[in-house]
Amino acid sequence: MFDFKLIKENKNSKARLGEITTDHGKIETPIFMPVGTQATVKAMSSRELKEIKAQIILGNTYHLFLRPGDELIAKAGGLHQFMNWDRPILTDSGGFQVFSLADLREIEEEGVYFRSHLDGSKQFISPEKSMQIQKNLGSDIVMAFDECPPYPATRDYVENSLNRTLRWAERCKKEMENAKGQALFGIIQGGVYPELRKQSVEETTKLDFPGYSIGGLSVGEPKEEMYKMLDYTTPLMDKNKPRYLMGVGTPEDLIEGIYHGVDMFDCVMPTRIARHGQVFTHTGRKTVRNATYKEDFNPLDAECDCHVCQNYSRAYIRHLLKRNEILGVRLTSYHNLYFLLNFAAEIRDAISNDNFINFREEFYNKYKLK
Ligand code: GUN
Ligand code: ZN
Repeated sequence: MFDFKLIKENKNSKARLGEITTDHGKIETPIFMPVGTQATVKAMSSRELKEIKAQIILGNTYHLFLRPGDELIAKAGGLHQFMNWDRPILTDSGGFQVFSLADLREIEEEGVYFRSHLDGSKQFISPEKSMQIQKNLGSDIVMAFDECPPYPATRDYVENSLNRTLRWAERCKKEMENAKGQALFGIIQGGVYPELRKQSVEETTKLDFPGYSIGGLSVGEPKEEMYKMLDYTTPLMDKNKPRYLMGVGTPEDLIEGIYHGVDMFDCVMPTRIARHGQVFTHTGRKTVRNATYKEDFNPLDAECDCHVCQNYSRAYIRHLLKRNEILGVRLTSYHNLYFLLNFAAEIRDAISNDNFINFREEFYNKYKLK
């Protein structure tokens, strides 16, 4: 079962409020999805993920296929059972990781041949194989196997790649015909070429997917370019289907994406910067590892009501991080994820109260961009 209900559209922007229903429960949109590449959101137990009100998390086909293997996960009863997460899971197809992580890859019409970044072993993922892996994982939302072109790339390259991605999308759809309780999303590509984005939306929409992802952004292009592409692309998309902007998720990107009509986001950034001692606050990002915080007994963020901010100080967390104590990274990861999940919840409230434009303005007044 999969359903998307559009609940409300903002009058002064393209922001929307919606609700996705899956076999593992409902998801309120706009939503931020924590990334759990290796069947774990790094440093977070499933109990903690529930405590911070995560509604859906991500898994990765590429990593789980290589280790521990999707067949082993199927034996455990699927990814939900394996990692003890009973809420929705979305899995990426490998169609991005194979291009960003694997060595010596060769793209053929049939699929992608590559060497594992772990041990150099020869591997192959095709659209059909990616679907079979995701069926073994048992995710609620499945991504089509696509090619995400690098930036910059020539128009010719992006056009050929986009047409192959379309042919692959058709094969993915065919392979998923008999899959129960798993919704396959098509992925829009087209780089920073408006005509190609348009072609990608039109052709992908013809295949009639239950949701659509916007791929190929945040791959090194200037932010202005990404926002311009979003502004151009989302109005072409079916408004009654969820829209997922892949790999994007800083606070400012969430605000801008939602402003342009995006419903779902994911990003490794909150947990990655947490491991480097950086935290989000309502006034911007801070490096709590810095000497400035040595005797600072205030919480990470004075305006945050998460468990970490209610109980621990910057000085203590800095000490833990400096000493490489495991708890340090657990606390910064917990806070950063809470910050983004709470931020998305505040945005949903703002849209619900017709206050989104004000909320966006206030955010930019307070949050210092680096
Ligand atoms: N993650 C970030 N961007 C992309 C993309 O274009 N395709 C896929 N499959 N995953 C992504
Ligand atoms: Zn906090």
